[in-house]
Amino acid sequence: MQNDPLKPGYNFDAHLVAGLTPIIEGDELDYTINRPSGMKGYIINLTSKGEGTLFSGPDSIDVGVGDLLLFPPTAAHYYHRKKETVSWFHRWVYFRPRAFWHDWLSWQEQHNGVYITRGLDKTAFEQIERLFIDIEYTSKSEASYRNDLAINLLEQLLIRCKSLQPDVLSKALDPRVIEAMNFMTQNLNQEFSIDDVAAHTCLSPSRLGHLFRDEMAMTITQWRDDQRISRAKQLLVTTNHSVNQIGRIVGYSDPLYFSRVFKRKAGVSPKIYREQVT
Ligand code: FCB
Repeated sequence: MQNDPLKPGYNFDAHLVAGLTPIIEGDELDYTINRPSGMKGYIINLTSKGEGTLFSGPDSIDVGVGDLLLFPPTAAHYYHRKKETVSWFHRWVYFRPRAFWHDWLSWQEQHNGVYITRGLDKTAFEQIERLFIDIEYTSKSEASYRNDLAINLLEQLLIRCKSLQPDVLSKALDPRVIEAMNFMTQNLNQEFSIDDVAAHTCLSPSRLGHLFRDEMAMTITQWRDDQRISRAKQLLVTTNHSVNQIGRIVGYSDPLYFSRVFKRKAGVSPKIYREQVT
């Protein structure tokens, strides 16, 4: 298990991880980042120095200072320093989005499933780079509410990037999917079944299941558990409630089941998570 997100083998099971990858020719980070089946979350990436190359062969494209990339979970990651340059420094944020961010997560231009926004002007670049830096430092700080603050800055970053799109035209989510998400968010602490969610949207469970998966690239249960665990993480570090109480608040009446789901999503048990971040 790798502790450094810049090295291969790091397990990205957090809701937000941010960093700067300073690649210099011949250095230990000078390798190709290659994740053929994408990641569980999104990545937003800004080149701050030098140039990088995405993909290989006829598909390859180069990115330079002021170019932004957004990798949805299904996009393949294949990138490295551009061969003819000595360095490629890029800032990045890995994140699992909240439901209502959907509209900000599609940009106009894409290449092999990766969104691209090129050539920010100086003011936009400075503003955007500042947000990347603030997200990284806030998330690594000791501040109380650091996760919420970092997420809030990430929201600003995503909104700014969306507003830079020349032609803000994005596919709206199906209203029944939004209804389903609202229902689950409002009832996060209740035991509800997929049938209950479906009944609320006036669709059959299987029709809603397919629609949800098509639009959100995950199942209803995965989405619900993601939201519950995200809330549990917040409560673990901002309240003194016991782990079992928190499990109940986020909708798991069975403490063992809560710990199991938490561990699967967060990589550690709720108790260890609390010790690590407080
Ligand atoms: C790091 C890479 C960076 C990004 C994050 C998720 O190892 O250097 O580009 O892919 O992982």
